[in-house]
Formats: sequence, C-alpha cells, structure tokens
Amino acid sequence: MIKISKGGYHYNGKIGIHDINLTINQGDAVCIMGPNGAGKSTLLKVMVGLYSLESGTYLFNGTKIDQAFLKDRKKIGKFYQQFGFVFQNSEIQLFNMSVYDEIAFGPRNLGLDPATVEQRTMDCLRLLKIERLRDRVPYHLSGGEQKLVAIASVLAMNPNVIILDEPFNGLSPKYRNLITQIINQLRAAGKTIIISSHHFNQVRDLVDKLFFFSEDHTITREVAIDELDSLPNYIEYLDNL
Ligand SMILES: Nc1ncnc2c1ncn2[C@@H]1O[C@H](COP(=O)(O)OP(=O)(O)OP(=O)(O)O)[C@@H](O)[C@H]1O
Ligand SMILES: [Mg+2]
Repeated sequence: MIKISKGGYHYNGKIGIHDINLTINQGDAVCIMGPNGAGKSTLLKVMVGLYSLESGTYLFNGTKIDQAFLKDRKKIGKFYQQFGFVFQNSEIQLFNMSVYDEIAFGPRNLGLDPATVEQRTMDCLRLLKIERLRDRVPYHLSGGEQKLVAIASVLAMNPNVIILDEPFNGLSPKYRNLITQIINQLRAAGKTIIISSHHFNQVRDLVDKLFFFSEDHTITREVAIDELDSLPNYIEYLDNL
C-alpha cells in the first residue's frame, strides 16, 4: 500500500529525512520510533501528501505520489480521503467554533446526508467519551481534550489509513487506555494503523512492527514485535529511547 524508496526531504537545506526505505501493507499496524528530531513527523507528513519527496519515490497503491500528482486537483481528493492524520500538535488542526462542528466537518465535507452526519458525530463523541465537550470551543480546551477531539474528527471520516503522530502525549492514563482500546478496534476492523511514539511500552501490544529512526534522519532498523523476545538488549535500548 505504502512503499517509499530512498526517500528524502529537506527543510531549507536542513535534513528532515533521508534515504528512507519502507513498505507498509493494507491492514498493517506499525510504529515509527526514534529520538527527538529524527524525522518521524516529517515521514508521516510525506505519507499523507503534505510534503512531496525531494529524492526517491513514494508509491501509494502503485501510484507515484510526487509534486505533479499532489498538484492535480482531480486526483488528490481520493488520495487524501484514504488518510486520517492526527498531528503531533493536534490543536493546529482544530478550526471550528464547536467540538460538534469540528467532528461533523469531515462527514459534511464528504457530502453525507444530515442524519448520517449527526449519527457519525454522536458516535465519535461517545467513542472518545467526550460528549460533555460537544458545545465547547475547541480552541479553549486543554491540550489533552484537544487531542481527543482531533482523534474523533479524524475517525468521523472513517479513513482507511489512520496515522497518529504521538497520540499518547499529554493524555492521562484513563484516556491512554481508551486510545489503546480504540486502536485495537480499528485494527480488528482491518484499518491500516501508523503510529509514532517514543514509548515502547505504550505501543508493544498495538502494532506488529517497529521502524527505528536513528539521529541521522534515516530508518536503520525494522523489527517485528514477535522478534523482540529474542532481542533482550533491544528492549532495554527501547526503554531508554
Ligand atoms: N518546519 C521546519 N523547518 C525547519 N526544520 C524542520 C521543520 N520541521 C522539522 N524540522 C527539522 O527536521 C528534522 C526532523 O523533524 P521531525 O519533526 O520530523 O522530527 P521527529 O522525529 O518527529 O521529532 P519529535 O520526536 O521531537 O517529534 C529535525 O531536525 C527538525 O529540526
Ligand atoms: Mg514528531
């Protein structure tokens, strides 16, 4: 589904990611790990088409995603609809005047009828246990509440690929557990899940595979979760990441 080969991206001459090789298949659940500033968020933004690679190639279901593709208004709609992306600083993705409208925005944009929009919005408020926030202004919510609203607004669009950049940051244990449960339900429903996290313990039961960035902005290792038991030193390394 997602295949990146020799992928590179710079910010004004500064390396974001380089020489990235990775394949993610439909239904996979993976975690991108690595130290601060390594390139995790940059890679996720490339996957969803916010940035286009400057070197190498990105294929999504066999289609080359490059600058020409991302400028083609007729094609990008379907591509963008595949993804639900929760930003690391999720407050920047909230722009509506109420939590209800924030969550309803995506379903309305998909052209769904009002009853379905209402149904999906209420379902997502319940799923994230944030019914009490429905009439609040997203901008005024706490950081953790904003994260929950961002996740609800992404799930309301029922995307095929769900990308969560540091979804547990700023959440209390109760909500971390809830997000864990929701991710497991999404996995069981066959969604493709891509998470970035520093916290191995939070993701070890959630994903099948880990990709590791090193400090020099590239992925240096790919490990299946069930291989980890045979790599005890690696677990210690992960705990200190
Ligand atoms: N908008 C930007 N302008 C310039 N440099 C940037 C920008 N965004 C990221 N970078 C740089 O690109 C590199 C990769 O950043 P990125 O945000 O992808 O890292 P990350 O692995 O997500 O880090 P963190 O764990 O702190 O979220 C870093 O060196 C960062 O300083
Ligand atoms: Mg990041």
